[in-house]
Amino acid sequence: MSNTPYVDDAVLGSLYPDHIQTIKSRHDQALERAGAGHAVIFSGAPRAVFLDDYDYPFKPNPHFVGWLPLTQIPYCYVIYTPEEIPVLVYYQEKDYWHLPPANPEGYWVDQFEIRVVHTHEEVGRHLPEDASKCILIGEIDDPAHAFGIDRINPSSALNMLHYGRGVKTAYELECMRGASRRAVKGHAAAENAFRAGKSEYDIHLDYCRAVKHTDSELPYGNIIALNENGAVLHYQHQSREKPAKLRSFLIDAGAGICGYASDITRTYAKESGEFADLIERFDELQQQLVAEVKAGLDFSDLHVSCHRKIAELLAEIRVAKGSADALIEAGVTSAFYPHGLGHLLGIQVHDVGGHQGDDLGTTIDPPIGHPLLRLTRQLEVDQVLTIEPGLYVIDMLQENLAGTPGHAMVNQERLDWLRPYGGIRIEDNVRVLADSCENLTRDAFAA
Ligand code: GLY
Ligand code: MN
Ligand code: MN
Repeated sequence: MSNTPYVDDAVLGSLYPDHIQTIKSRHDQALERAGAGHAVIFSGAPRAVFLDDYDYPFKPNPHFVGWLPLTQIPYCYVIYTPEEIPVLVYYQEKDYWHLPPANPEGYWVDQFEIRVVHTHEEVGRHLPEDASKCILIGEIDDPAHAFGIDRINPSSALNMLHYGRGVKTAYELECMRGASRRAVKGHAAAENAFRAGKSEYDIHLDYCRAVKHTDSELPYGNIIALNENGAVLHYQHQSREKPAKLRSFLIDAGAGICGYASDITRTYAKESGEFADLIERFDELQQQLVAEVKAGLDFSDLHVSCHRKIAELLAEIRVAKGSADALIEAGVTSAFYPHGLGHLLGIQVHDVGGHQGDDLGTTIDPPIGHPLLRLTRQLEVDQVLTIEPGLYVIDMLQENLAGTPGHAMVNQERLDWLRPYGGIRIEDNVRVLADSCENLTRDAFAA
């Protein structure tokens, strides 16, 4: 396993022991909460396609990936008992249909007592004898994979672990810097492909080639949207056709390092002019929001402040008219910007714990009128999150304004001007610091 050139494996190796210490101490607390003696963390099982004998791409249990950088090996277990070296039951299936996993190696192996097994029965022999003292963390579709453990994903333990995952270790931060660097290489290739007039499909292929990911290794399906398609928030299609006239390109695409994701969006105009100027203006708006990120900030407040900025921008470009308060109140900004300002990022792209107020599971609801905001908790040092304002012409949402006071505030002629460009989103991944933030994405673009 090599992460070259995006991260130095020797650096990851030097940071990993402290990472494991943090993971252990979170599990110590989680076990205490659950009143259990052992945590058994399952990597996951492949899922077969209905009525068929091949599997969907394997997606590992994120809790397992938090322990070690194995993202593609099903049927493994980490067994953690406080004060003891964790055991890794490493499932190396004897299989001539597929390539079996290689022997374990890398900077992480010294932190585990590794027991290589080849059959399901063998796994059972390595689990703690008393299943009633265990909790199992993972997705269990087949009870045979629980080996008699009936406390599966107890919320007392998961609330603790999910809350903890919001704050990244130095090891995780290094992985995530690398994940930004890797994605940025793909973004550069994709921009070139766009400028060369390629189709969405060919831009996607150029992206994958640059980051050296297969489709299923991407942290989420690439959003590669030309022209109007940029208005579809999670546009999933990749057209093989080149549009007759190329106007704009919205790309939302990430990459992974050791199971940690980046999640980056950029928008480009084909030609200079009013839309290119708007992207530039939007980029300033996004950077103003990034500049406000620091520990102690209530993210819901930043999200609401983004609505205010978007209201002012809509008025400035004459797409809408009215005061910021009036445009927000009438739901006009929500029609142009219907998603949240950002979310926690980590092993999962929409990482867990964004609505948690504490490690007990108290939740903090999004502000009224903003149900899609995925991050409502106060910012803390070493959280990693996205800042991703957007502005789109989504006809379905414009139609919803019809018959409301908001409709008259929208200038339909200017809407018709903007529609063919789809929309704009600019998304960076930032690490919270005491008085500012580290912008993993812009650092990677600048390198
Ligand atoms: N790529 C999905 C998101 O930005 O949340
Ligand atoms: Mn994104
Ligand atoms: Mn995102």
